[in-house]
Amino acid sequence: MPDQQLGIVMTLLSVLMVLFTGMIRAQPGDLTVTGLKVEYMSNPVGIDEHRPRLSWKLQTRQRNTRQTAYRLQVSETGKFSADGILWDTGRVSSDRSVHLAYRGPDLESGKRYFWRVQTWDNHGNRSGWSDPAFWEMGLLTPGDWAATWIEPGLEQDTTRPQPAPMLRREFQLDGNVRRARAYVTSHGLYEMKINGQNVGNQLFTPGWTSYHNRLQYQTYDVTDLLSSGDNAVGVTLGNGWFRGWIGFSNQRNFYGTRLALLVQIEVTYADGTTELITSDGSWKASTGPIRMSDIYDGEVYDATMEKKGWTNAGYDDSNWTPVRTARHGKVHLAAPDAPPVRKIQELHPVEILTTPEGDTVVDMGQNMVGWIRLRTNGPRNHIITLHHAEVLDKEGNFYTENLRAAEQKVTYILNGGGDEVYEPHFTFQGFRYVKVEGYPGELTKDDLVGVVIHSDMEPTGHFETSSALVNQLQHNIVWGQKGNFLDIPTDCPQRDERLGWTGDIQVFAQTACYNMDAAGFLDKWLQDLEADQREDGAVPYVIPNVLGENAVGASGWGDASVIVPWTLYQAYGDERILQQQYDSMKQWVEFMRERAQADSTTYLWDNNFTFGDWLSFNSDASDYPGAYTDKELISTAFFARSTELLHKTAVILGRNEDAMRYTGLHEAIKDAFQVEYVTMSGRVLSNTQTAYLLALQFDLLPEDFEHAAIRYLLADIRERGHHTTGFLGTPHLNPVLSQYGYDQQAYELLLRTEYPSWLYPVTMGATTIWERWDGIKPDSTFQDPGMNSFNHYAYGAIGEWLYKTVAGIEPAEPGYRTMAIKPTPGGGFTHVRSIKETMFGTTASEWNFTGDRFSMRVEVPVNTTAEVTLPNAAGKEVISGGEELSDGNGINTSEEQNEDLVLDLGSG
Ligand code: BGC
Repeated sequence: MPDQQLGIVMTLLSVLMVLFTGMIRAQPGDLTVTGLKVEYMSNPVGIDEHRPRLSWKLQTRQRNTRQTAYRLQVSETGKFSADGILWDTGRVSSDRSVHLAYRGPDLESGKRYFWRVQTWDNHGNRSGWSDPAFWEMGLLTPGDWAATWIEPGLEQDTTRPQPAPMLRREFQLDGNVRRARAYVTSHGLYEMKINGQNVGNQLFTPGWTSYHNRLQYQTYDVTDLLSSGDNAVGVTLGNGWFRGWIGFSNQRNFYGTRLALLVQIEVTYADGTTELITSDGSWKASTGPIRMSDIYDGEVYDATMEKKGWTNAGYDDSNWTPVRTARHGKVHLAAPDAPPVRKIQELHPVEILTTPEGDTVVDMGQNMVGWIRLRTNGPRNHIITLHHAEVLDKEGNFYTENLRAAEQKVTYILNGGGDEVYEPHFTFQGFRYVKVEGYPGELTKDDLVGVVIHSDMEPTGHFETSSALVNQLQHNIVWGQKGNFLDIPTDCPQRDERLGWTGDIQVFAQTACYNMDAAGFLDKWLQDLEADQREDGAVPYVIPNVLGENAVGASGWGDASVIVPWTLYQAYGDERILQQQYDSMKQWVEFMRERAQADSTTYLWDNNFTFGDWLSFNSDASDYPGAYTDKELISTAFFARSTELLHKTAVILGRNEDAMRYTGLHEAIKDAFQVEYVTMSGRVLSNTQTAYLLALQFDLLPEDFEHAAIRYLLADIRERGHHTTGFLGTPHLNPVLSQYGYDQQAYELLLRTEYPSWLYPVTMGATTIWERWDGIKPDSTFQDPGMNSFNHYAYGAIGEWLYKTVAGIEPAEPGYRTMAIKPTPGGGFTHVRSIKETMFGTTASEWNFTGDRFSMRVEVPVNTTAEVTLPNAAGKEVISGGEELSDGNGINTSEEQNEDLVLDLGSG
């Protein structure tokens, strides 16, 4: 922001500050308990956590409210009468309302447990009991599985995509069904139907994990799908990640060549007797309309080959093939910790165009991930083809080169004779534009619907400003997350890649946790990281690792093993994630230490391949070298960072010996870094923005050198007029500038619209975050198609700074038990509004300039406190709730700190 504008802001600030909070006076007695969650889920069915953690939120209109006690009851029946109660904590004096671990009697396979909570607060109020919630256990031991693995007995050439196998069986139920559960998993993907109806609404089941180590199964309540008499179950299997094409080297069958299925349906009759229907040798197999399906390439669906009624009883399967039974083991089966992938929303075409080359192309208006639901009506055997692309080229033609080898092509062969509606199955596409070939009759916007799919995470963040461009940037960040949080955190959703690149999520995790509840999603992925981590501690480039044993150990990438758990701990106060990942974190640090010391006695990690500050600003001018940061410096910087976080983790977990060891190691790395890379005047080798950012953000410099370093950093930004950072440096750019008081420079970078900048893609019409600063160059030509995704979240890591600094919402204690609300007016914004849903409830920060007034509105969840900073308000007239600010009514203390006024606020 230009100086002049900041000046005006200061003048405005000097006139009047107004603070709004939830300004409702004491309303005793309305304390209520809501939002009951078990392991980040509401009423989960089929978990395998033996001591699940329970969390709840409190609501009241009374300000400054804390929980002083709780009572929690767990019952097996849903009735909370004395004899039905399994665990009753009694009244416990405690402010604990999140992550309270169940400590009652052992939980049993397949059982449902109901629970409710009552609380007391510091005003002497007692809530009523919450509405009961529940959780249900999955199958906890391999012995609980009576089912046998089966494989379709079909001859298939697995060097190429094959028709999707269908497996079926019929069964009789003799009596009314009171309760029924289906436990299901597969090699490959599965879609299951019972009596013609879908089982659940989850997609891409059983999800993608390190299959040989951990294979998820799903639990479904199928009570309503079954009835007394004849029933049938049918399952279609897709290649998916298991044996489809995965990775960029044309590799198929990574996890195996054969698809397989494991199903166990447990029925309880009205009279209490039970019956099991399982996968076994009695099932039969065939193929049908899905002639080919692959994650990258799309699907060929021949509707003339549909087998009507095959998932209903009475279907004639006499010409189907018997299945083979198989021994795939059950010890590695695990219940999901992450939310499933689902259809989340639908988009409608904004325009149908004819390109200069004559193609019919539908513009969905948004770069999205999922597929097209197509409606059509035409002759039998007629073929419609849909091609998917993210962008049109300079001339306005359909452009697919950046998809590399991924076809993203969906072919539908009509059945004929009426309206047909079709959506693909075991594939997804990343696209904004759809080229339609062979549509019978006139194509209208009503014939296509964009079905957006992703992991069903609860949205927990909102950020808006008075700048339309910045709002579009935030929109693009969120859509980058939607498109790439599809069971695992991927780099991109469109080309022949879509892999769980560790470096990308290392830089984006903080932002992700603001936007959505990503705890369960990342927890699951971290378990696979640990499973695929090499014995010597090396972390693969991608998780699940499909690139091989030696694609491991890149700094900035492997550090996801430490930085992502640490991020979850900060965002959700989840100490168990630190416990769970501790060995993995430690092994990664030890791997780095061993490598660093392998050929020297110092602590410089300078002998390993790494990607470096990937895709940093790249100039063609030969005298413009200022973006390339020495990779060895980067490696040692991350070695120090991960060691520091491991040390902090060891302290939290009470692992004292390790704490000592890693604080010592951290100091030694820091010393080595300074000797090798820092000059006596505070210059950091490479003299690039990223070098300074890592040195400052990771606290690698002697204290009295920091100001020299920030000056060099600022000088470089000023001289070039823009940032030069890549994947590893970019997330730290604005945070470091703000940390050292250079908010104005940070705002200037945020608001720059020329290349390179965050807003440049926005001005070029981007609706997601691009992989490169110049994916589309200023002359409208494209960057290198070998590496040019238009939906890559890494540079969206600026989102953290938007929430944390611009709106000013940040956890002061892990999990927002206490929070800091410290907005940073600037950027010429007249309005900023942000909401963050925490484990405790909603926190909000809003600021406005209206005329000569600066007003702030904050919301602090019950059972938390906030340190709220009113910027530049020291010595000014401040009004709160219509009256001059004074302590009381939720404001515990107020204190001037330099230019600011800092309030300690209770909830409200
Ligand atoms: C991916 C990146 C990834 C990188 C490693 C690329 O192909 O798309 O996002 O981190 O490789 O440098």
